[in-house]
Amino acid sequence: MNGTAWVSIFRPFWPPTASLRICGSRLVNGGVMDSERSKIEAAVRACYASWSDSYHRDYYGPDAPYPPVHRDLLRRLLLDCGVKSLLDAGCGSASFLREMSDTGLDLYGFDITPEMVAEGRRVFAGLGQAPQHLWEGSVLDPAAFADPAGIMTGRFDAAVCAGVFPHIPETDDALVIRHLHAAVRPGGLVLVEARNALFALFTLNRYTAVFFSEQLIRPQALSATASETERAALEHALSRLRERFRMDLPQLRRGKQNEPGYDEVLSRTHNPFIMRSLFEENGFSDVRVLFYHYHCLPPMLENEFPDLFRRSSLAMEDPNDWRGHFMASAFIVAGVRT
Ligand SMILES: C[S@@+](CC[C@H](N)C(=O)[O-])C[C@H]1O[C@@H](n2cnc3c(N)ncnc32)[C@H](O)[C@@H]1O
Repeated sequence: MNGTAWVSIFRPFWPPTASLRICGSRLVNGGVMDSERSKIEAAVRACYASWSDSYHRDYYGPDAPYPPVHRDLLRRLLLDCGVKSLLDAGCGSASFLREMSDTGLDLYGFDITPEMVAEGRRVFAGLGQAPQHLWEGSVLDPAAFADPAGIMTGRFDAAVCAGVFPHIPETDDALVIRHLHAAVRPGGLVLVEARNALFALFTLNRYTAVFFSEQLIRPQALSATASETERAALEHALSRLRERFRMDLPQLRRGKQNEPGYDEVLSRTHNPFIMRSLFEENGFSDVRVLFYHYHCLPPMLENEFPDLFRRSSLAMEDPNDWRGHFMASAFIVAGVRT
């Protein structure tokens, strides 16, 4: 594989009220407590359990809210680099892997949700792929990255991890990147997909307020040096700032029945600058950040002219456009194991 064969290719104002906060839990070895991890993982499993048969249709099918541009991007990156074997960490119902079944690649994957794995195996069998190439496991567990036969462990040409990082506690981001690094051979390619935290600067809604408050302004630090009068003025200024944003948007994504919905489990966004640094600090070279799922205008305006909105957004899809930092809701970090 040629590692250089690159193709051209959101919380409210203070005090924070995120739906599921993990700050404050005791740290163990730089990560969150095992019990906290278990709670997060149980909620994620419950969220995805009822999604196993429809997930692929919902996000890759012809009626998906937006075409699966990430599939094409990942596919191109993998094929251009000439990989022969692929591990999909958090593979869901083999939703992406099934899209690769025509490539001749040796396909493997694991996922934390048993129902997803079962559905993936069923689909794999129908495609003539080996169902035993899919197994249960968590990206937080280094053992999950070993295939059951132990043949490919640490030797994959490439590893993909898409849609999983939102559900990883912040203190575990680097750990998962190290696990992915260990899963591929030296020179192997790792592709991580994440939701773009900087997109909040374009949405002008609750996410913007949270990003201003928690990432940019840091009101607690401001308040710490303020006099009593200044503190009252600061609180007033911050509440005036909040009035600039649609705090009622976006609507929370809840579960279909009693299970927790996507926005009711840990579902983080990631800063692409920080993700790039994490890759560079953890043994990757040739690190690239590639943006996708552009929005020609803030999403709250989509309903005004949905067809034009979609057409124009699709026309913007260029992973290397600097506007992606703000107008794309997702990105892929690609790096080569040194
Ligand atoms: C948004 S879906 C993406 C599925 C697939 N990767 C794709 O891109 O089509 C996220 C998947 O990540 C899985 N997941 C969440 N946390 C995980 C973890 N800690 N380890 C492994 N899988 C996890 C969920 O069970 C779910 O199937």
